[in-house]
Amino acid sequence: MGKLNNKIAVVTGAAMGNGEGIARTFAKYGAHVVLLDMSERVFEVKQQLESQGYAATAYQVDVTNFTEIKQCIDQAIQDFGKIDVLVNNAGVIRLASFLDMSDDTRDFQFDVNIKGVWNVTKAVLPNMVENKYGKIVNMSSVTGTMVADEGETAYATTKAAILGFTKALAREVARYNITVNAICPGYILTPMAEQIAKESNATNPNAVVDGIASGVPLGRLGRIEEVGELAAFLASDESSYITGTHVVIDGGSTLPETVSVGVTS
Ligand SMILES: NC(=O)c1ccc[n+]([C@@H]2O[C@H](COP(=O)([O-])OP(=O)(O)OC[C@H]3O[C@@H](n4cnc5c(N)ncnc54)[C@H](O)[C@@H]3O)[C@@H](O)[C@H]2O)c1
Repeated sequence: MGKLNNKIAVVTGAAMGNGEGIARTFAKYGAHVVLLDMSERVFEVKQQLESQGYAATAYQVDVTNFTEIKQCIDQAIQDFGKIDVLVNNAGVIRLASFLDMSDDTRDFQFDVNIKGVWNVTKAVLPNMVENKYGKIVNMSSVTGTMVADEGETAYATTKAAILGFTKALAREVARYNITVNAICPGYILTPMAEQIAKESNATNPNAVVDGIASGVPLGRLGRIEEVGELAAFLASDESSYITGTHVVIDGGSTLPETVSVGVTS
């Protein structure tokens, strides 16, 4: 018996990266995963999961399009009778200094990272309220909530917004036995992290990844399966008394206070 047996779990941005790791982990724990992603790779992930004997459904859909999202969610509810878990994971990043960032680039990140979370939650929540049960997990970040690097004003704004959304929604829906929590990852090795490395140093992105790893007390970037395990805990009844908060998963990257003070044993 898995901790997510008989649960219907919607995961956005499930075609790669953290969303794929979350979907695979949920499937391992017995959930029927409903994968949403704008990339057609979402169908590959579904097929791979099915070939391993897991239950998965896939929709190629853009989280910024509420009409399409609602159609997919309504279809899933019709097919499976309920939605127990929603992981709002789909997200994008575009690096540019504040003065150089166009409004289009800003809005692109705001639309996917904030309105996308809003849209999917709006489509799923009525069913959770009706069932008096639900677990919502929102993907925030240490970026914007604890730390930031140059070029991240828009992205950091969106990730901080997700914490506000998480708390306010948790307060409203607690009476329906629905929990809402956020995950704040540090660097996880995903296509997004690889994209950041390329944008930071096009000729030697590996040096950027190595540089990130060297600043992490645990000495490496995180793995998507590690994010999946945390999401599975927050999506399961093991976390039944946890709501309106966030969990950092960063290998200790936000721990160092300085690079020059300290003794080694
Ligand atoms: N990788 C990291 O180091 C890291 C750190 C902190 C937070 N996060 C967060 O984790 C989440 C996933 O990041 P990742 O690193 O796996 O990214 P990724 O780019 O590797 O994967 C993101 C997935 O989301 C999908 N997606 C993007 N826009 C979409 C849209 N409009 N509609 C539907 N699907 C869409 C993409 O197709 C892709 O499959 C994001 O919210 C990101 O902000 C990542």
